[in-house]
Amino acid sequence: MRDLVIQSHRGPYRVRFGTAFEGLDALGPRAMVIVDTRVADLYADRLAGPMAASSTLRIEATELNKSLERMPEYVLHLLDHGLRRDCTLVAVGGGIIQDIVCFIAATVMRGLPWTFYPTTLLAQADSCIGSKSSINVGPFKNQLGTFTPPTDILVSTDVLDTLDEADLRSGLGEVIKVHVVSGGDDVRALARDYSRLATDRPLVRHYIRRSLEIKQVRIEADEFDTGVRLVLNYGHTFGHAIESATHYAVPHGIAVTIGMDFANFVSWKFGLLDRSTFEFLHELLAANCGAFATVPIPDGAFFDALARDKKHSGSVLSLVLLRGPGDVFLDRYPNDDRFRDICREFLAELPAQAAGRPVA
Ligand SMILES: NC(=O)c1ccc[n+]([C@@H]2O[C@H](COP(=O)([O-])OP(=O)(O)OC[C@H]3O[C@@H](n4cnc5c(N)ncnc54)[C@H](O)[C@@H]3O)[C@@H](O)[C@H]2O)c1
Repeated sequence: MRDLVIQSHRGPYRVRFGTAFEGLDALGPRAMVIVDTRVADLYADRLAGPMAASSTLRIEATELNKSLERMPEYVLHLLDHGLRRDCTLVAVGGGIIQDIVCFIAATVMRGLPWTFYPTTLLAQADSCIGSKSSINVGPFKNQLGTFTPPTDILVSTDVLDTLDEADLRSGLGEVIKVHVVSGGDDVRALARDYSRLATDRPLVRHYIRRSLEIKQVRIEADEFDTGVRLVLNYGHTFGHAIESATHYAVPHGIAVTIGMDFANFVSWKFGLLDRSTFEFLHELLAANCGAFATVPIPDGAFFDALARDKKHSGSVLSLVLLRGPGDVFLDRYPNDDRFRDICREFLAELPAQAAGRPVA
């Protein structure tokens, strides 16, 4: 599969498609690897070279570990093992390892190059491009961050075989998101192929590449997220509030899946989206969400988390809503009783949808 070249404020960088961990053994002495502990254990044979280096830092992929509070121990480890300005950081893992390494690369010694071996579908199909790092602070998710692209990305679908089903669906949530943002042809093709995506690797590779192409157009036009890129937050305002209200019991991309259904429901109730389009998308989103729809989402914690979103100001919410596939937009709405009643209605119906009952 052909490379993808992404333009950024730091110059072009490349997404290559290859075999698992290609090139990792040939890294020079100035490379320092930061690896997801689970990936290190699962692929111990293939990662034997980097794992033998005492500088290699293993981190468990948890939201707590991608917090500001944890950064000093990572930086101290790297400094203790000889980190210098001519070093390259190498991230091996999913979105959590990416966020940690990208943040360290952006800030330590005022900037170090970093490369990325994404090992989750979410990281391969979505987060690996776009330059963002996002770090948690205390109870606040993704409040610290930078725009710092890697210099090189190697996508290999070989490593997806070991992903849990929930993590696979989490990645598919972001794949669905960009396809809805793109338009009707893309989302209809995806809905047709959806049931084969868990097992058909060439098909997954096709959708990873297509997802990156759709995202590429928006991030190249608006790398710093002030204009056309903002629509990629579709599903995220509600999704982040769901992650927070459930204490991360719902994986990121599945919270985004519920978040898209939520945004569509609000759009339908606001008279922006017709019912048949809502239902067509609902079928795909409910399939991807599966039993996670039954995780209780307490109203109070949900509304508190929604109000903390960094995009809102005062009692006005910035919501990404939908008039149809390819017509996703950002607008401001009052956080009033009508909006909150619609939210409560959605939350009350969510578990019933998991049992296959239609939305009222
Ligand atoms: N910076 C960005 O642009 C961006 C975009 C989207 C999401 N994110 C962040 O990414 C995080 C979610 O990332 P994610 O979904 O990749 O999850 P993750 O990094 O938390 O990984 C999910 C789970 O999969 C495991 N894992 C990773 N690779 C594996 C493999 N090949 N086989 C088996 N298990 C494997 C991990 O150990 C973990 O248990 C969230 O914190 C989210 O906020 C960042």
